[in-house]
Amino acid sequence: MGISFKDVTHLYPGVKRKEFTLALEDINLDINEKDEFIAIVGKTGSGKSTLIQHMNALMLPTKGTVQIFDNLITPKKRKNPKLKNVRKRVGFVFQFPEYQLFEETVFKDIMFAPLNFGMKKDEAERRTKEIAKELKIENLLKKSPFNLSGGQMRKVAIAGILSYDPDILLLDEPTRGLDPKGQVEIMELFHQIHKETRKTIVLITHDMDLVYQYATRVVVLNDTKITYDGDKVELFKSGLYKDNNLVKPEVLKLIDYLNEKMHYNLDYNTFTLEDLISKLKEVA
Ligand SMILES: Nc1ncnc2c1ncn2[C@@H]1O[C@H](COP(=O)(O)OP(=O)(O)OP(=O)(O)O)[C@@H](O)[C@H]1O
Ligand SMILES: [Mg+2]
Repeated sequence: MGISFKDVTHLYPGVKRKEFTLALEDINLDINEKDEFIAIVGKTGSGKSTLIQHMNALMLPTKGTVQIFDNLITPKKRKNPKLKNVRKRVGFVFQFPEYQLFEETVFKDIMFAPLNFGMKKDEAERRTKEIAKELKIENLLKKSPFNLSGGQMRKVAIAGILSYDPDILLLDEPTRGLDPKGQVEIMELFHQIHKETRKTIVLITHDMDLVYQYATRVVVLNDTKITYDGDKVELFKSGLYKDNNLVKPEVLKLIDYLNEKMHYNLDYNTFTLEDLISKLKEVA
């Protein structure tokens, strides 16, 4: 098992004493160490960001435990294992990755974590160049990370995580605020990493088209609780998506239209508009 939540509750302290916000309640969730592409979805304020931050001990549970590989995270800070061991294995790209950057140059920024985790300097430099090439940001290496566009910053933050090769990748709305081409590029990159390395990816997104295209499992949060954990086709076939304030992916809206108005008989096992077009060509 990669990550395992046991009865996790999270309370945020309020402004006044004895005032709290309940953000997660009795969460039980098991995530495999390999081969999962999990989308975490749910309306705003449902607890998604809070949940994902527990997956690499950025937050401690108020109640319950989170097992992250061989590290057991409990509410008691002093008793917890060294967090470096956790962070090395579970990489996190924040909702606003610009907060993650701090070095003088992009090159140093990407190299920071591998050095921090004990990688030799030439090896870290080699990794940095390799990752920069893969993400097509070689031209940015000498720049200050603070003189970049939002999309470029995001790529640099992602490169900084990939450089130390964690086993599991956590992504909190990685495509938010990017232009459509940037969104496709980033998602294709994660998809490729997932396919090639079998790394587990946990992705928070409000974009149901991305969920339907990429996820192999969907976890739905609604008001602090998990209300669905399973197959994406099943989620949108049933009324459950509506109960959780989700919308149907575009491809399914079109399939519904074709079935209802044009008397097609298409099922929901079509995950992108491109796939649907190919299918329609076959039956035409
Ligand atoms: N730092 C904080 N202090 C106090 N309350 C917080 C804090 N962060 C989040 N909350 C509260 O916890 C609940 C869950 O918030 P969270 O950020 O996990 O939601 P989310 O599902 O990620 O929302 P979004 O889709 O808007 O990003 C909300 O009620 C929110 O107001
Ligand atoms: Mg959030």
